[in-house]
Amino acid sequence: MAETTDNQPFEPVIIGFTCNWCSYRAADMAGTARMKYAPNVRLIRLMCSGRLDPTFVFKAFANGADGVLVSGCHPGDCHYLNQNYKMLRRYHLMQRVLAQLGIEPERLKLLWASAAEGAIFAEEVNKFTEEVRALGPLQWGKGGNGAQTAASVPLTPSQHSTEAEVAA
Ligand code: FES
Repeated sequence: MAETTDNQPFEPVIIGFTCNWCSYRAADMAGTARMKYAPNVRLIRLMCSGRLDPTFVFKAFANGADGVLVSGCHPGDCHYLNQNYKMLRRYHLMQRVLAQLGIEPERLKLLWASAAEGAIFAEEVNKFTEEVRALGPLQWGKGGNGAQTAASVPLTPSQHSTEAEVAA
């Protein structure tokens, strides 16, 4: 089992972005039905998974998250028509960017969950927590794990071009 620098067993910090209409309600259902799932996940409710700006994910990692869960309505069930398809495209792009940064893409997970799928939500959170635990601490903001440091990565195109101009 991975340990932290102070020899404590590693407890991963996972940020979960959930859609208000489906996956957040699935988490709520799991809670009201007293289904136990790993307490490592901190949920943030968005109105739709399509609201997920990729910078939310990178900021979560930069601020200490070891894993990020993105969860929304099943394809075809989005309350805003097709926004979860847009999120799906962003998810694949984010995985590629993470790999480029030296971060395991498996630290980002996508989960479709309807409001009635509290048991599936709980089971997937448990599974993901164990997967992230096996990967070990990320410590991206501190330059850990061999990854490029968070502070050295521009998060917006304008920052990127300004830095390129300075370097030129
Ligand atoms: S409303 Fe749930 S993913 Fe769009």
